Amino acid sequence: MDNLPPANAPILLFDSGLGGLSVLSALREKLPDAPIIYAADTAGLPYGEKTEAEIAARVAGLLGRMSERFAPRLICIACNTASTIALGMVRSVLQVPIVGTVPAIKPAAAISLTGTIGLLGTAATIRQRYVDDLEAEFASGKRLIRHAAPELVGAAEAKLRGEIPDPAIFTRAVDAMRAQAGDATIDTVVLACTHFPLVEQELRAEMGGDVRFVHGAQGIARRIAHLTQGHSFARDGEDRAIVTSPVDEALQQALLPFGITRVEQL
Ligand code: DGL
Repeated sequence: MDNLPPANAPILLFDSGLGGLSVLSALREKLPDAPIIYAADTAGLPYGEKTEAEIAARVAGLLGRMSERFAPRLICIACNTASTIALGMVRSVLQVPIVGTVPAIKPAAAISLTGTIGLLGTAATIRQRYVDDLEAEFASGKRLIRHAAPELVGAAEAKLRGEIPDPAIFTRAVDAMRAQAGDATIDTVVLACTHFPLVEQELRAEMGGDVRFVHGAQGIARRIAHLTQGHSFARDGEDRAIVTSPVDEALQQALLPFGITRVEQL
């Protein structure tokens, strides 16, 4: 038992921006007493428009620095783009358990009745071999319509910062995905970017009531709870966020509803 982490060792939740907050909410429900640091590479956002090499270098470099500085008990890469590209690499260099976020193709395939599944992700995510493998393993015999919707990342960021995103963004994403499906009916949509559950309401309004949206946040929270079973937790003070760009008022306000009262630049 003496190799258990100290009670104040944090869980580090990492994303390019505010998308990982969709995972934070699920994790807080499971582990209300866990110390959590929310880490966002706001200077690198959006990851979805970067190359694989750029993303891998940023994620590995930042997680290395943050591991040394904060000695987390576990790291969650709460970002599909970073996970599908860099999870294996980061796991091989850091001596910390790492939980990734990968597109929820398996649960979507299990519930789809029409067999036509939409997948909204970033451009970098939808072209990954990781996604090809998930499709081959869990959705063979179904049709997976992948659509890159980078505008939804900005829309989610804007919404959390108190702005009203342009409704045309949601229309464009849904229309483009449906156009690819042709006459087939998409009944299930994988939200394969952690930003997208933050605008699920807007997407739902655009797609109509019967479509089911699936994402990984609850599953990730369960996995983290499982991996930290038997650990003791002590939240010593306020929850905080670490970001890579200068902190502004809108960012602080966006984090407050998630219980984060301290925001610092790395
Ligand atoms: N939240 C990230 C994801 O889950 C990506 C957003 C970005 O493009 O940086 O894929």
